[in-house]
Amino acid sequence: MSTFETILYEKKNGTAYVTLNRPKALNAYNIKMRNEMYQVLGAVRDDPDVRVIIFSGAGDKAFCAGADLTEFLTAPSPVIARQVRFERDVWSRFLGVEKPIIAAMHGYVLGDGIEIAGCCDIRIASDDVQFGTPEMGLGIITAAGGSQTVPRIINRSHALDVLITGRWVKAEEALKMKLVNKIVTRDELMPIAEQIANRIKSFDPVAVNLVKQAVTRGMNMTLSQGLELEATLAGRLSAS
Ligand code: COA
Repeated sequence: MSTFETILYEKKNGTAYVTLNRPKALNAYNIKMRNEMYQVLGAVRDDPDVRVIIFSGAGDKAFCAGADLTEFLTAPSPVIARQVRFERDVWSRFLGVEKPIIAAMHGYVLGDGIEIAGCCDIRIASDDVQFGTPEMGLGIITAAGGSQTVPRIINRSHALDVLITGRWVKAEEALKMKLVNKIVTRDELMPIAEQIANRIKSFDPVAVNLVKQAVTRGMNMTLSQGLELEATLAGRLSAS
């Protein structure tokens, strides 16, 4: 296991476990976590032993309670500009991981927490989950990709309902909106995430990664471009 200051990273039988690890601050996303996330995402992307990734949060109360409010708006503007550029790199690195990523969420999933989930491929949550975007109340917008990923996962009107009103969305409603694929009990959360990971690992990793690529890249294309992409990727698979 590699222990960063804010993230636990463990690799077991082809699964990478990435655990946000600031439980006393409800796993709030701070600058240190952002920097470590960048390193971890590079590791899972490049390590051929990693086939599937599971993201979760340490502690009883939260997957992630959003941006760390103690750092909120503390940097001078040139630093902010640099930070914005770097954050874009983190989120594009996240979205660029070709391997499947599962989010196993519990408790509070706020702000950046939703945005982390939005970069994952399969989202499961325990029945105590509560989603929310406090950004509006802070006079900011979801800027870690959420304004783009969330409407691509659920529909535009549900996304705006969540992002603009900042209201709490609990398990049952999150499932109805398709913000999560599955709701389970707290005890089942990791075992079910692992079950999904094991099933994925039983298949050819190249085929799995190509399907992810076909779907995620294809969603930003016209149908005919998407079909061309699919044919190219299928050809690449048969060639390999
Ligand atoms: N940044 C920094 N610290 C945070 C945090 C955040 N986003 N969210 C929670 N914490 C800290 C609290 O300050 C508290 O620390 P303390 O024990 O040293 O006082 C600890 O985590 C526990 O939080 P607490 O507020 O006592 O838990 P709660 O169950 O009463 O309330 C929340 C939970 C999530 C409703 C509440 O913590 C909250 O509203 N957090 C801020 C959410 C937010 O606005 N995020 C930014 C999104 S952009």
